[in-house]
Amino acid sequence: MSHSHPESLKAEIRELKAKHNVLFLAHYYEDGAIQDLADHVGDSLALAKWGQRADNPIVLLAGVVFMGESVKLLSPEKTVLVPDLAAGCSLVDHSPYADYLKWRNEHPNGITVTYVNSSAKVKAITDVCVTSSNAEKIIGAIPHDREILFGPDRNLGRYLSKKLARPMTLWPGSCEVHVQFSMRKLHELKLQYPDALVISHPECDETILQLSDVIGSTSRLLDEVRNNRTTKSFIVATEHGIFHEMQKARPDAVLIQAPVEGSCACNECPYMKLNTLEKIRNTLKTLSPTVTVEPAVARLARVGLQRMMDITDGKAVTWPNRFEAPSPAL
Ligand code: 13P
Ligand code: SF4
Repeated sequence: MSHSHPESLKAEIRELKAKHNVLFLAHYYEDGAIQDLADHVGDSLALAKWGQRADNPIVLLAGVVFMGESVKLLSPEKTVLVPDLAAGCSLVDHSPYADYLKWRNEHPNGITVTYVNSSAKVKAITDVCVTSSNAEKIIGAIPHDREILFGPDRNLGRYLSKKLARPMTLWPGSCEVHVQFSMRKLHELKLQYPDALVISHPECDETILQLSDVIGSTSRLLDEVRNNRTTKSFIVATEHGIFHEMQKARPDAVLIQAPVEGSCACNECPYMKLNTLEKIRNTLKTLSPTVTVEPAVARLARVGLQRMMDITDGKAVTWPNRFEAPSPAL
């Protein structure tokens, strides 16, 4: 919480940020004190857009590494800093490049739609990326006669496939945080709070999504709390960090964390929470660690990411007819 951090540390961060002309971006899952110091707080799509459009030569991204990589891929000339390079993501871990390539080779005529929660190498063998806030629009732009492969989050993929009535071959990955919510306990909580709206991230298991009133990206869930005046109680099935911005947006809201099965704090993303104000200060002091993507990987990974940005902006795109594995091998 912001009051537990010395003002001097926050002042030092502000000064260093100004001195090096750094754009400071934070994801909603970061600690409240980090969110309060950032220039912009957003979901993964918004962070990528701000990073790409900024004039600042340096972007500091308090989030996880794949988010920093997206900024670097879209703006290779910028220096992209992340406070801790160990800030991974279970979806990245669940989609090793060699296995994804094998899957891709088995379906050469399919269009591969890959969630941005993936490594740069996996993006390099992807036709188009999506985030949870633009996925419906992106998939809607794929010709109806094309087979779709969706990875690495099977819950987001299954949700999209049903909602859009498009068959998809799903990669079996999942987010270790969002699969912890308990259907049984959520059901009990709904009985306890009959007026509360259940709002969930699509990375949650299907059993949770079936009990949900609103399903969407972090920014979509925040908008629901901000704008839905028919209730003031919300049961929130996503990472706890977003409560900070939700409570700021709607001080009268009663926010209830969706329950997990055990008594763990597993509704907190351990990777997002690796970022601290101290590490952010050190990163701004040393201008490291930086996000790097090998040029051969970056050249290919940029294609699917830029195709996503173009469709998001309403531009027309073309699709490859057939997958060709990278040569030379990545
Ligand atoms: P958003 O794109 O909704 O911000 O989600 C990113 C994420 O990592 C969710 O777990
Ligand atoms: Fe990855 Fe899940 Fe953390 Fe999001 S919450 S960054 S999907 S591990």
